[in-house]
Amino acid sequence: MRIPLIAGNWKMFKTPQEAEAFCERFRKLYKDTDVQALICAPAIDIPAVVEGFEGSDVKVGAQNVYFEKEGAYTGEVSVEMLKAAGCSFCIVGHSERRQYFGETDETVNKKAKALIAGGIRPIICVGESEDIRIAGTQNEHVKAQLIGAFEGIPASDAVKCVIAYEPIWAIGTGRVATPEQAGDMCSFIRETLIELYDEDTADEIIIQYGGSVKPENISEIMDQPEIDGALVGGASLDPDKFMAIIDF
Ligand code: 13P
Repeated sequence: MRIPLIAGNWKMFKTPQEAEAFCERFRKLYKDTDVQALICAPAIDIPAVVEGFEGSDVKVGAQNVYFEKEGAYTGEVSVEMLKAAGCSFCIVGHSERRQYFGETDETVNKKAKALIAGGIRPIICVGESEDIRIAGTQNEHVKAQLIGAFEGIPASDAVKCVIAYEPIWAIGTGRVATPEQAGDMCSFIRETLIELYDEDTADEIIIQYGGSVKPENISEIMDQPEIDGALVGGASLDPDKFMAIIDF
């Protein structure tokens, strides 16, 4: 039984003060829903969000991590630091990190392994560019990303991972994938997980859709049988909109 996971990805938005204001408003609106809610905040905002959600069911996550335990890695944040700060999830391999910060399937794999070892659940992002979608090779592309991300991860750990399918052409563009396009790819991801592992393992793994998710389109996305949640960018910055999404 997969509990739906709806996560906000704040990207590089909000100061700690703005994060605090978000939590204050969100807690007023918050009511129990059937989904697990999560906010993945910029590292500097994590303490404010952890404090802001204390005593609620909302979980807190990060957007990136470095895979080494500790050391001379100026500017980086470790798994242990995120864990100690109160994170239970961490996004890895977001397309923006692959595009601007050189993230590769290999670093995604190392980060996912380090997170699992440290007790934080990775949210592994996959998805194709518009050119790949036009060429019709999106399935091959996403499959290769999955093979790279899960390399050497045993089934007992794979079930702790979340996969976020985010077609790059639908991120921040307002061009949401049709529920069928999103649903078809999430089914294909589930089939790939069966090939990589087995049916029981694949059945346990949460698969999210991300890309221009809003209160207006969340229901039809969640209606797709293989979609277990959403990774929400822009609309997660507004507490009213995020609450409307988790209470779809
Ligand atoms: P938008 O919801 O702003 O399209 O962003 C999606 C995303 O990249 C979430 O990780």
